[in-house]
Amino acid sequence: MERGVGLTALLVAAARAIETHRHDSLVQDHYAEHFVRAAPVSAGWPTRIEDAPDGDASPLWGRLARYFGLRTRVFDDHLLRSARAGAHQVVLLGAGLDSRAFRLDWPPGCVVYEVDRDEVLAFKHRVLDGVGATPPVTRRPIAADLRDEWAGALLDAGYDPTARSTWLAEGLLLYLPAGAEKRLVDTVDSLVTPGSDLAYEVKVGVEPEKVRDNPVYATTRQQIGIDLLGLFDGEPRPDSAADLGARGWSTTTRTPFHSTRLLGRGPEPEPDDALAANRWVFATKP
Ligand SMILES: C[S@@+](CC[C@H](N)C(=O)[O-])C[C@H]1O[C@@H](n2cnc3c(N)ncnc32)[C@H](O)[C@@H]1O
Repeated sequence: MERGVGLTALLVAAARAIETHRHDSLVQDHYAEHFVRAAPVSAGWPTRIEDAPDGDASPLWGRLARYFGLRTRVFDDHLLRSARAGAHQVVLLGAGLDSRAFRLDWPPGCVVYEVDRDEVLAFKHRVLDGVGATPPVTRRPIAADLRDEWAGALLDAGYDPTARSTWLAEGLLLYLPAGAEKRLVDTVDSLVTPGSDLAYEVKVGVEPEKVRDNPVYATTRQQIGIDLLGLFDGEPRPDSAADLGARGWSTTTRTPFHSTRLLGRGPEPEPDDALAANRWVFATKP
C-alpha cells in the first residue's frame, strides 16, 4: 500500500478529501480523509487546500487534485445513471480507496464488486471498520491482480453474467501493460449482457518530452515520493475504444475539459499539459 501503484490510491484519496472541503466541491467523500490519515506515508499530506504548500497554485494539490475531484464526480454520475437504468451489478476495477459503495444513493438491489490487490483491500477494510462504515448496498471486495486471470474470482463472488452490469476502470489502465489492457477489455466483453456499459480512463498516444517536464510530475515525485511517469506503463497504448467499436460496442470519448465546461469547475487546458492526453471513454454493449 505504501509503495508503487498502491500509493496512487492514497493520492487520489487525498485529492477527494481536498475536493470534499472546497466551498464549491464536486464530490463529498468523508471517508477519504480517514484513509489519508491512517497510512503513515500519507498521514502528513494535506486534506484541505488551505493546508497545501502553494494552495491552488500547486500543480499537485491544486490542479491535479481538482482533476481527480472532477473525474470522481463524472464517474459517480455515470454509474448512478446506469444503475438507475437497471444495471444493478457495479464492477469497480482497480477500485483502490473508492468509497462509492458507501456514499452514493444506489437503487435497491445493487451489488458493488470492488477488484484490487489484496494489500489495498486489506488496508481499506481496516480503515472502514475503524470508522464503523456500513454500505447501504451489498459490497463484494475481490482480491486479484488484474494482469492475471480474475474473471473466475468475480464469478465465484456471485457476479451474474446474464444480468445487466456497469463497469469502471478509473485510474487503472495507465498502469497496466498493453496486453493486460487488451485482455481486460476482452474479459469484460465476454462477461456482459447487451445494455451493459464500461467506462474507463486512458492516456492517448505518448506524452512528448515537454509534457513529461510539466511541473506536476516533478512536484508529485518531490513532495510525496510518487513517480507517476515511472509507474505509467511505458508500452505503446492499445486503442481500446476502437477494439470495443470493432466488437459492436458504441463508444463516446471525452476530454476532462468537456466536463469542466459542463460542471462549471475543474482544470482548464494549459501549455504542455499533463492532462491533454487524458480521455474518459464511455462504452455500451448494444
Ligand atoms: C490511481 S489508483 C485509482 C483507484 C480508484 N479507482 C480511484 O480512482 O480512486 C490505481 C488503483 O489500481 C490498482 N491497481 C493497479 N494495478 C493493478 C493490478 N495489476 N491489479 C489490481 N489492481 C491494480 C492499484 O492498487 C490502485 O488501487
